[in-house]
Amino acid sequence: MHTNMWYIWTLLICSPSIVYSQTMQPPHECSAVCEYTHWALDADCKNRNLTSIPGQCSQVVTFDLRHNHIRILPVGAFEEFVNLRYLDIEMMELETITPGAFQDNINLVHIYIQINQLTVIRSFTFKGVPNLKQLFLNSNKIKVLDPGAFEGIPKLETLFLSDNDISEISSDLFRNLTKLRYLYLENNHISDIPEGTFTGLTNLRHLSLAGNDLVHIPSGLFDDLKHLRALKLSYNHIISINPLPDLPRLNHIDLFNNQLTSVSNLTDFLKAPRRRRRSNGTKKFTELFLAKNPLNCDCDIEPLRIWLQVHREEIRNHHRANATCASPAELSDVSLCNQQTPFCTLHTSTQLSTDHPDTKALTRAASPLIHISDEAESTLMPITIVVVSISSVVLVTLLILTVYMKCRNGRIPYQKHNTKGSDDDYKQANITENPMNKHAKYSGM
Ligand SMILES: *[C@@H]1O[C@H](CO)[C@@H](O)[C@H](O)[C@H]1NC(C)=O
Ligand SMILES: *[C@@H]1O[C@H](CO)[C@@H](O)[C@H](O)[C@H]1NC(C)=O
Ligand SMILES: *[C@@H]1O[C@H](CO)[C@@H](O)[C@H](O)[C@H]1NC(C)=O
Ligand SMILES: *[C@@H]1O[C@H](CO)[C@@H](O)[C@H](O)[C@H]1NC(C)=O
Ligand SMILES: *[C@@H]1O[C@H](CO)[C@@H](O)[C@H](O)[C@H]1NC(C)=O
Repeated sequence: MHTNMWYIWTLLICSPSIVYSQTMQPPHECSAVCEYTHWALDADCKNRNLTSIPGQCSQVVTFDLRHNHIRILPVGAFEEFVNLRYLDIEMMELETITPGAFQDNINLVHIYIQINQLTVIRSFTFKGVPNLKQLFLNSNKIKVLDPGAFEGIPKLETLFLSDNDISEISSDLFRNLTKLRYLYLENNHISDIPEGTFTGLTNLRHLSLAGNDLVHIPSGLFDDLKHLRALKLSYNHIISINPLPDLPRLNHIDLFNNQLTSVSNLTDFLKAPRRRRRSNGTKKFTELFLAKNPLNCDCDIEPLRIWLQVHREEIRNHHRANATCASPAELSDVSLCNQQTPFCTLHTSTQLSTDHPDTKALTRAASPLIHISDEAESTLMPITIVVVSISSVVLVTLLILTVYMKCRNGRIPYQKHNTKGSDDDYKQANITENPMNKHAKYSGM
C-alpha cells in the first residue's frame, strides 16, 4: 500500500517534467552537427570535417573535436563555452593558437592538443584558464616555447611536451608551476638544461627527459624536487651525472642507454634508505636502470655490483637494470648480476687479507679477472725495471759492505742467513708495491 502511494506521488510530481522534456524541448541545435548527450552536456564532434568550431554546442562541458580541420584558434575561440571542462582538439591539423584563445574558459580543466602541427607556444597562450590541470601538447612540431608560455595556469598538474622539436628551454619556463606533478619532455632535442629550470617544482612526481641529447646532468638541477619519485633519463648521451641531492621518495632512476662509464656519483642513491614499502607490506624495488652504458668495471663500481647482487631476483623482471661492463676488455659484456666476486681484488686483498682465511681464497679465485689494461702495464714496465735495477745495485752494495764489515768481526755464517732473508723481504716488498702503483694509476683513470 505504502509503496504504491509513493509511486503515484512520484509519478504526479515528475510527469510534467517528463512531458516537458519529451515534447516541449526542441532538439538541441548541437545535435544537428554532433552527437550530443543532453544530460551529460557532452558533444562528440569527432571526425566530421569541421573547419570551424560549432557554436551551437556552447553549453557543453565535454567537447570532443578530434580529427577535424581547424587550423587556427583565434582570441576567444571558445568564448561562449562557459561550462567547458574537457576540451579535446587532437588531430585537427592545428597550426596556431593565438594567446587568449581560451580566455574566459574559467572552468576548463583538461585540454588535449596532441597530434597537431603547432610550432610555437607564445607567452600567455593559456591566460584566462586559471583552473587548468592537464595540458597535452605532445606530438606536435613545437620548436619555440616563449618565456611565459605557461604563465597564468598556476594549478597545472600534468604537462606533456613529449615528441616535439624542442631544443631549448628557458630557465623560467616552468616557474610558478608549483602544483606540477608530471612533466614529460621526452623525445625532443634538448642538449642543455639551464640552471634553475626546475626550481620551485616541489610537487613534481615524475620527470621525463628521456630521448634527448643530454650529455651532462649539472648539479643543483633537482634540488627542489622533494617529492620526485621517478626520473627518466634513458636514451640520452649522458657521460656525467653529478651527485643527486637527498630526494627521499626517489625510487626510480632510468639511465638506460647512455654513455656513463662511472656511476660512483650514484652511490649515495643506492645506499640511502628510502620509503620502499608497498601497502601490502612488501618491499618496493628501488629501480636504477643502467644497462646499455659503457661501464668501466673497476673498484668504483663495487657498490653497484653489490647492490645488483642483492636485487638479482627483481632484476630478472627489469632487463634495463641488468648492467654490463664495457671495460676493461677482459670484462666486456660481463653482467654485474653474474659477477659474484669483487672486480676489485687489488683493493680488497690489501684491505681484507688479514680478516679471514676465506678472503684469501676469494681473492685467489677472483684474481684471473683482475687484468689491468695492457696500456697501464706497458707504461709500468720500464719504471719497474729502473726501480728494481737501482734498488738491486744499492742492496748489493750494502750487502757487500755489511759482509765485508761483519767478516772483519768474524760473524759470517749468521749474517749470510740473514741477508738471504732480507732479499726475500725485498722481493715481497716489490710485489706489494707494484700492484699498489697499478691500483693508484687505475682508479685515477
Ligand atoms: C569528410 O570528407 C571526405 C572527403 O573530403 C569524405 O570522404 C568524408 O565522407 C567526409 N566525412 C564526413 C563525416 O562528412
Ligand atoms: C611568476 O609569478 C610572479 C608573481 O605572480 C610573476 O611576477 C612572474 O612573472 C611569474 N613568472 C613566470 C615565468 O611565470
Ligand atoms: C661526479 O661528480 C663530480 C662533481 O661532484 C663531477 O665533477 C664528475 O664529473 C662526476 N662524475 C661522473 C662520472 O658523473
Ligand atoms: C604486493 O603488491 C604488489 C603490487 O603493488 C604486487 O606486485 C606484489 O605481488 C604484492 N605482494 C604480495 C605478497 O601480495
Ligand atoms: C643479465 O644479462 C646476462 C647476459 O648479459 C644474463 O646472463 C643474466 O641472466 C641476466 N641477469 C638477470 C638477473 O636477468
